[in-house]
Amino acid sequence: MGWNNILLEKENGIAILTINRSDVLNALDAETLQEIGMAMDQLDNDYEVRVVIVTGAGNKAFVAGADILFMQKLRPLEAKKFSRLGQTVFSKIENLSKPVIAAVNGFALGGGCELAMACDIRIASENAKLGQPEVSLGINAGFGATQRLTRLVNPGIAKEMLFTADMYSAEAARRIGLVNHVVPSAELMKFCMNMAKRIAACGPIAVQLTKEAINDGLEMDLEKGFIHEADIFGVAFSTEDRDEGFSSYLDKRKPEFKGR
Ligand code: COA
Repeated sequence: MGWNNILLEKENGIAILTINRSDVLNALDAETLQEIGMAMDQLDNDYEVRVVIVTGAGNKAFVAGADILFMQKLRPLEAKKFSRLGQTVFSKIENLSKPVIAAVNGFALGGGCELAMACDIRIASENAKLGQPEVSLGINAGFGATQRLTRLVNPGIAKEMLFTADMYSAEAARRIGLVNHVVPSAELMKFCMNMAKRIAACGPIAVQLTKEAINDGLEMDLEKGFIHEADIFGVAFSTEDRDEGFSSYLDKRKPEFKGR
């Protein structure tokens, strides 16, 4: 399918989705969000794809936020619809049946930081800058930050970031736990690809079940979370991947997981 605002490449089980509006630092308008949503639906059903990497075109920005020119024209109910669109699309990423790595290659502001937060793992280049500047524009974050940031970092830190509109360096974002690693800009994609390859070499159903157990568990009390984990553990034992994983270990060879 032809895309106007994104690029989608696939190679050896790894898909790279690039937000491709570099003239506006990859800002998100409704069409771009819809394309990200459609791409996620496609990737969810593509059994060849085991890991997804999300990044921004160019070397200056991951995504510099929701598109301010687009938002300037919105009436209140249209703004609510735009917020719901962003939330729905980002939830598709969070609930995708495979891991999503954000390769944060520059500014990740507002909706860009929220997009990164919806991914499972965030890797930042040294030049990345992350923040939620919405209040400096007289609006609040509307694509999930008031909910996801408090779950990712401690609530006091999240409130400071959301109230002050401060931009955080990649290293400061790593210190608060918002990004996992900071790497030189030239090595960002290589680092993310290497991580994606290590994940892709593991049992895809096991990885999917692990993502489900973690995401669902965050919404449960600990005891219910343990029961859920045990249920999922049982499901893993019904797969051919489990047979392959165990026999390859015993045969001292590399497993060839089929995702069945
Ligand atoms: N929406 C629409 N356009 C945006 C944008 C956004 N969120 N962020 C950047 N752009 C556009 C700029 O308007 C500019 O367009 P122009 O060339 O037609 O003037 C182009 O992208 C390049 O950005 P510019 O501001 O010239 O780059 P810079 O290096 O001087 O500054 C930023 C970079 C990210 C600090 C600055 O662009 C910025 O503050 N952007 C808005 C960030 C924001 O508030 N996001 C949250 C929105 S809710």
